[in-house]
Amino acid sequence: MKKVSLTGIKPTGSLHIGNYFGAIKPALELSKEYDARYFIADYHALNQVKNPEELERCIREVAAGWLASGLDPEKVIFYRQSSIPEVFELSTMLMAFTSKGLMNRAHAYKAAVQENQDKGIDPDTGVNIGLFTYPILMAADIILFNSDVVPVGKDQVQHIEMAQDIAQSVNAAYKTDVLKIPQARITESVAVVPGLDGRKMSKSYDNAIPLFGPEDQLHKLIMKIVTNSQGVAEPKDPDVSQIFLLYKLFASQEEQNSLAARYREGGMGWGEAKEELFRVVNRELSPLRERFNAIMADREGLDNILARGAEKARPIADTTVKRFRKAAGID
Ligand code: ADP
Ligand code: TRP
Repeated sequence: MKKVSLTGIKPTGSLHIGNYFGAIKPALELSKEYDARYFIADYHALNQVKNPEELERCIREVAAGWLASGLDPEKVIFYRQSSIPEVFELSTMLMAFTSKGLMNRAHAYKAAVQENQDKGIDPDTGVNIGLFTYPILMAADIILFNSDVVPVGKDQVQHIEMAQDIAQSVNAAYKTDVLKIPQARITESVAVVPGLDGRKMSKSYDNAIPLFGPEDQLHKLIMKIVTNSQGVAEPKDPDVSQIFLLYKLFASQEEQNSLAARYREGGMGWGEAKEELFRVVNRELSPLRERFNAIMADREGLDNILARGAEKARPIADTTVKRFRKAAGID
């Protein structure tokens, strides 16, 4: 029997190339070998996005993004989290096995509290319970589908460790393997894609290159990448250049070697390095962008794909919940 790979993306904004290399591409690679279950984490997004039009748009964009990037819904079970009520039932059950202390240690929650403390205001200001219990909902997403591996970026590793902890508590309580213990799977070479300002690319930092934006926007953003003040003539070290880091994601090995040599020789300015970057990025993203636009234009087609995915997912989810309920004495 094939092992299970599962991951989800929170629809809180437009997809960017960090999501593509850190999440979508490695997940699609795994789907060749594993039984893949990939989903849109829309109830996770609800914590952040309270504008219904925006949430709806983000859900459709993330769904279309997966498909445009090559997800085959005949091979991958592809669904919206909100279509699987068993996720929320399992989440409630898992709460009974999750210590508050574990949740206190979650990075996102801790950061929110710290920010308030730094401002000298009540530590709970603006912190909703959805943020606090976020790792439990995520554990339910993962555990429900008997996931073996969870392809994610480095920032999500703590959440997977919490899912392991929680599942282990359940198994320890019933002295049997009720739940599968998942493992994180990180693609080290692209673990963190840098953004326009050199920090981790993230929609929260306003430094992202959107995956499906129009060509002129792509060009404009790439030209905005922050560089140092080295002049055209100066030799440059490709290994410390954000532009080169991004270039490596899109260029062939040959192209990388040849551009690295030009960096080291001197005579190439940052403007030219950016044009080279734009060329390879646009080459890879153009066909994706076209597919994305076509999928976005076909509302009904997209709805049908997601509905069929939910139909395939629910029987699996039901089996896990039933097994847990039985072990727990709630039959
Ligand atoms: P953002 O930081 O823009 O809010 P998310 O937290 O929604 O992105 O991330 C969705 C998925 O994409 C996660 O698996 C995350 O690890 C991955 N990811 C996000 N940004 C990057 C990045 N800059 N490099 C690598 N992976 C990333
Ligand atoms: N927390 C993940 C993120 O912020 C999204 C997510 C929700 C997820 N549930 C998941 C990822 C289950 C992997 C598995 O990007």
